[in-house]
Amino acid sequence: MAATTSILLLCLFLSLTVSLAHASTPDAGQFSTTLRPEKLGLHRKEKLTHLKFYFHDIVSGRNPTAVPVARAAMTNTSRSLFGLVNMMDDPLTVGPKSSSRPVGRAQGIYASASQTELSFLMVLNFAFTEGKYNGSNLSVLGRNSVFSGVREMPVVGGSGAFRFARGYAQARTHEFDLKTGDAVVEYNVYVFHY
Ligand SMILES: *[C@@H]1O[C@H](CO)[C@@H](O)[C@H](O)[C@H]1NC(C)=O
Ligand SMILES: *[C@@H]1O[C@H](CO)[C@@H](O)[C@H](O)[C@H]1NC(C)=O
Ligand SMILES: *[C@@H]1O[C@H](CO)[C@@H](O)[C@H](O)[C@H]1NC(C)=O
Repeated sequence: MAATTSILLLCLFLSLTVSLAHASTPDAGQFSTTLRPEKLGLHRKEKLTHLKFYFHDIVSGRNPTAVPVARAAMTNTSRSLFGLVNMMDDPLTVGPKSSSRPVGRAQGIYASASQTELSFLMVLNFAFTEGKYNGSNLSVLGRNSVFSGVREMPVVGGSGAFRFARGYAQARTHEFDLKTGDAVVEYNVYVFHY
């Protein structure tokens, strides 16, 4: 009888030790833990950064930087090119000339998403290659009615120096070539990040 009780107590003790060990080691198959922001260097105050650059969308010639990848049967008869999907890898430069100093690329998709006006769904990453932002990216998801003076698109996140970024991008057409369809667009991006 006494032996059975001590075996039972021993078992209870062992199982308690095992579960305590589990609770104290975050790597023992635990799915989520709560961290203090210091752990990731996120206790500092957020900065507000303004980035200004020019976006070159080249659709004509031998080396286009944006190409159509899909269209609907009705796209060609639609005044707003509804259903057209373009993939871009557009250079970003510090000044409006294409020969100006490169600061990154705009990589993603713009797709005609309105049946009544030329308005694109923009899904893109700005991949920066300049200075302290070299290797960092910002992600944009927004609506771009290209004939409006200023188009504002949300910055939904980022990586590297732009982890936890949020903000907005304002686009203004700087130059549009009616013959070729090539465009230079001024971007002003305002982001909060750590
Ligand atoms: C639409 O027009 C483009 C370019 O002019 C042409 O290449 C394409 O075959 C046309 N597509 C349809 C579905 O008519
Ligand atoms: C950006 O980083 C890459 C890879 O680390 C490096 O090769 C390149 O020279 C850097 N560019 C600038 C402008 O600092
Ligand atoms: C940003 O995008 C580049 C591609 O341009 C990628 O190689 C890099 O890993 C991304 N940076 C971060 C910090 O995730």
